[in-house]
Amino acid sequence: MATIRFTVNGKASSVDTEPERPLLEVLREDLGLTGTKYGCGEGQCGACTVLLDNKATVSCVTPVRAVEGRRIVTIEGLAEGGRLHAVQQAFLDEGAMQCGYCTPGMILQTVALLQLHPKPTDAQVVDGLNGNLCRCAGYHRILAAVGRAAASTGASTGTSTGKGGGQ
Ligand code: FES
Ligand code: FES
Repeated sequence: MATIRFTVNGKASSVDTEPERPLLEVLREDLGLTGTKYGCGEGQCGACTVLLDNKATVSCVTPVRAVEGRRIVTIEGLAEGGRLHAVQQAFLDEGAMQCGYCTPGMILQTVALLQLHPKPTDAQVVDGLNGNLCRCAGYHRILAAVGRAAASTGASTGTSTGKGGGQ
């Protein structure tokens, strides 16, 4: 057992846990942040994507020891002051979800992409979201949502973040 300290959605957190446990498990089971989804458990589908120091990271294959002292943002931390993040709003406006299971990971991956490329080319969008799978095959609308988010005025894709706290 070890005590691991980190910041989640702007809030200091610490857990006493086995250091090799996946971050995904700790987020969901210890911290109750169930917006982060378990898909493949092997780093292959992107459902469990979170931001780790602003970088999109698959939490299912990230041992919790690796996040000591670092800053995590989950889907619960994107909205601020009761307002959805620009990327969340764009997904909503485009109806870019069916079952919604892939959506938190898609949104966080998009936030990371737009931080890197505020006005991405189609190739950059495809490349950026390549690791995120949608079983409902809603890719058309997802791509439209990414375009809308990039185009939206003041698309503050920065996750200044994680303000807004957990949930
Ligand atoms: S559940 Fe983590 S990548 Fe699939
Ligand atoms: S909306 Fe169902 S998996 Fe993407």
